[in-house]
Amino acid sequence: MGGMAVPSGPTGRKSSVKRLPIPGSAGTMLFLWHRPWLNRRLRGDTVPLRTRNRNGPGLSSRGTLIVNGPDHVKQVFAGSPDTWHAGECYEIITPLVSELSMLVQDRQEHARSRKLVTPAFTSAALRSYEPMIGTLAEDEVRQWPTGRTFRVQDRMQRVTLEIILRVVFGVTDPARLTRLHALVPALTDVSPVVLMGLHRRSLRPLPPWRTWLASRREFVAVLRAQIAEHRQAGPGARSDVLSRLLKAEVDGDRLSDDELVGQLMTLVMAGYETTATAMTWLVHDLARMPDVQDRARRAASEGDTAYLDAVVKECMRIHPVLALVSRGLSEEAEIGGVRVAAGESVAASVSLAHFNPAHFPEPDRFRPERFLGDAPPPATAWFPFGGGVRRCIGAAFSLLESRLLLRWILLTFELTAPTTGPERAKARTVVTAPHRGGRVIATPRTS
Ligand code: HEM
Repeated sequence: MGGMAVPSGPTGRKSSVKRLPIPGSAGTMLFLWHRPWLNRRLRGDTVPLRTRNRNGPGLSSRGTLIVNGPDHVKQVFAGSPDTWHAGECYEIITPLVSELSMLVQDRQEHARSRKLVTPAFTSAALRSYEPMIGTLAEDEVRQWPTGRTFRVQDRMQRVTLEIILRVVFGVTDPARLTRLHALVPALTDVSPVVLMGLHRRSLRPLPPWRTWLASRREFVAVLRAQIAEHRQAGPGARSDVLSRLLKAEVDGDRLSDDELVGQLMTLVMAGYETTATAMTWLVHDLARMPDVQDRARRAASEGDTAYLDAVVKECMRIHPVLALVSRGLSEEAEIGGVRVAAGESVAASVSLAHFNPAHFPEPDRFRPERFLGDAPPPATAWFPFGGGVRRCIGAAFSLLESRLLLRWILLTFELTAPTTGPERAKARTVVTAPHRGGRVIATPRTS
C-alpha cells in the first residue's frame, strides 16, 4: 500500500493486520457505499485500507490505515497536532463550511478557532440554552403524526435544524427561518459528484454547481445579516451561540465577520444531520425494544437524566453516525507495527471499536447499563464524537438535545415498529442512517 509497509518476520503482529477483500479504488468505492457491511466484516485489530483516489472525507488519496484497538486509537487522538492533521482529511467539504472553518483548519489556525469558539459550548453556556432547546423539542414532538407509520428521520432533521437556527444562529424572524429551512438542506443534500466538482473552477458555470453556489451566496448573505443585527443589538441582548461568539476574546484576539460566517456554517453542517441521525436510530431501536422503552419512560417521568443519557450513549455505540475519525500525517509514523508514510492517513474506526467485546461484553445487545456506574467505557473504546484536541465541540450540546427530545417523545407516545423488521444501516453522504428513514408508529399515551 503506497509507502505503508506491513511488517513481516517474528514480530507476531502481521496476523493482526487485515486487508480489504478488494484492494485499490474498487475497495475504496466498496468501503464508501457499503461501510456498515464492511465494518462488520473487518472487525479485527488494525486494518490497512488501500485507496488511490480522494473519494471521500477522511480518506487520503495515497492510503489510509484503519485502526480500532484502544492503544492505536489513543495514538491517533494523542498525536501532535503539528503532524497529525484532521483538517486536510475534511478538505473535500471545504465548500460547505468555508476555509475559515475549524473543521478544515490545522495547527495554530485550528487551535485559535477552537479557543474562540469553546466559550460558547461550556456547561454554563449549555445551561442557558437548555430552556429553549426543551421548548423546541416539546413543540416538535407534539406535531408528530399519530397512529400511522412515518419516517422519523424527516422530523428529526427538521427539529435539529430548527434548534441550530434558533439556539446557535439566534434567528427569530419567521421569514428568515423558513428560507433557512429550505437553503440548508439544499446545500447539504449534495451528491459526492457535485461535492467533488465544486473543487473544479471549470465546472462552476454549469447547472448543478451554478445553482449550488447561488444557494451558498444567499446563505452567506443571510448569515452576514444575522451577525450585523446581533452586533447592533449589543452584548447581553440575547443568549445564543452567536452572541457568545461575538463576545469571545482571547488575549485581545476576536473572530472577524468572515470567520464568524465560517464557524456558523460549520456548526450547522456538523451539527444538524448528525444529531438527527443519532435520534432517528434511537427512536427506531426503542420502537423495537418495548422493555428498554418502558424502563426509559420510567426514567423520563422520574427525571432520571443519567439513565436517559445512558440510553442515548448506548444507541450511539451500536449505531455510530460517523464510521471513521481520521488524521492525515505530515511525517512518517508507526502505528500497530505498521509504517505509515507522510501524506497517508490513519483512521480510528468508531464502528469497529464499539463492538470490541473486551469493553462491551455481548456487543450486539442494547444495554444502557454499560454507561451507568463508576467505570464508564474509556474514551479509546467509545468515541462517537472523536477525541483529543479535535473532539467534537458540540458533543455536550448534542447529548443535551438528544436527552430533551427523548424525554418528550417518551412522555408523549408509545412507540411501536411497523411489521417490517429492523432497518439496515445505509451510508448517506457522510452519515450512516437507517435505510428507510427510521419508520415507526407513535400512539398517544393514555396514562
Ligand atoms: C450525534 C451528533 C454528533 C456526532 C456523532 C458528531 C461527531 C463528530 C466527530 C466524529 C467529529 C470529529 C472529531 C475528531 O476529528 O476527533 C466532530 C467534530 C465537530 N463537530 Fe460534531 N458531532 C455531532 C454533533 C455536533 C453538534 C450538535 C455540533 C455543533 C452544534 C457539532 C460541531 C462539531 C464541530 C465544530 C467539529 C469540529 C471540531 C474541531 O475540528 O475541532 N457536532 N463531530
